[in-house]
Amino acid sequence: MTEMKRILITGGMGFVGSNLAMSLKLKYPEYVIIAFDNLKRRGSEINLNRLKNCGVEFIHGDIRNRSDFDEIGKVDCVIDAAAEPSVMAGIDSSPVYLIDTNLNGTINTLHFASKHKSDFIFLSTSRVYPISRIEQINYTETDDRFEIAEKQSIQGISRQGISEEFPIDGVRSYYGASKLASELFVNEFREFSGIRSVINRCGVLAGPWQMGKVDQGVTVLWVARHYFKKPLSYIGYGGTGKQVRDALHINDLFELVDWQIHHIEKINGETLNVGGATECSFSLKELTQLCRQVTGNTIEIKSVKETRDADIRIYITDNSKVTRLCNWMPKTSKLALITDIYKWLKENEIQLSSILK
Ligand SMILES: NC(=O)c1ccc[n+]([C@@H]2O[C@H](COP(=O)([O-])OP(=O)(O)OC[C@H]3O[C@@H](n4cnc5c(N)ncnc54)[C@H](O)[C@@H]3O)[C@@H](O)[C@H]2O)c1
Repeated sequence: MTEMKRILITGGMGFVGSNLAMSLKLKYPEYVIIAFDNLKRRGSEINLNRLKNCGVEFIHGDIRNRSDFDEIGKVDCVIDAAAEPSVMAGIDSSPVYLIDTNLNGTINTLHFASKHKSDFIFLSTSRVYPISRIEQINYTETDDRFEIAEKQSIQGISRQGISEEFPIDGVRSYYGASKLASELFVNEFREFSGIRSVINRCGVLAGPWQMGKVDQGVTVLWVARHYFKKPLSYIGYGGTGKQVRDALHINDLFELVDWQIHHIEKINGETLNVGGATECSFSLKELTQLCRQVTGNTIEIKSVKETRDADIRIYITDNSKVTRLCNWMPKTSKLALITDIYKWLKENEIQLSSILK
């Protein structure tokens, strides 16, 4: 029988946090799952009833305030999923909230974890890799997408994608920098406070309950705009929609995090690239095709040639290390991912229309 656990999920009302909280509670009804969130993200409040109804506890708190952690009590594991997750944050607005939350807030969360000797699972990002380095990746171009070329001159990049060996020097956005700086502190606390930890550098994550917007959560935004018949734009790289990402279904991330909670001794101190990989990668143009197929709707897509600050042409995760260490691989196909998002929109249309329309 599994040992009973108390698990804290910061950002527990957000996309990743709420899905992990629900899935954990459903799989382990005897566990105490605490979602801690300041409800900053629009749409997070929708999760309140959903999570309460399945027995997840909610604490309204802000990771920027250390005293807000006082009412939580001892936990066995912390999943750090509270953040301002937009790459554009700080670039088109003040970076103060982002730095206070993503860096100082993570340090506060680490203080809490070290006080209780809790295991620490950090949701980091592929955006820790510098923009200029990603843009140096040799690529080829087909009618529908950019592709990683066979021949590469920098380490950590192959046809399989970007591995943990990829260079880390260079500028990466305030968002990426705040997460990389937090990664450093995760390792310092592990070494000097005796907590066990793992860092997951996630690529694009997607699935139901993601409140997609132009600067964050693009997969859901794309499906929602098709569903609600609203226009979209291909922005950057000539405006043809050929930029490529891999996307990981939130259920696949849950399987990994579930394994990590219960086997952290095997991966203590590791940093892992985690994503949908080549099999679940698509360009915006290909995503449009998938959305048309699944929703049955065709919408107007404008073209903006200019590339935005901090954008990247291509990112695909090389999952070799996480597969080797955690015996994990994503299972969900891109068609299944888009279909799941579509079904969720359909089932919750009225509630979601004010946020995603
Ligand atoms: N969604 C992705 O594609 C993606 C990709 C890579 C990494 N990540 C990482 O995963 C984590 C979760 O991202 P998400 O997509 O669920 O984002 P989200 O915006 O849906 O959820 C974040 C949650 O944190 C809460 N929050 C924000 N500031 C807070 C604060 N100061 N105190 C307490 N709560 C606060 C928000 O209200 C929200 O509910 C983040 O750390 C993000 O960097 C996400």
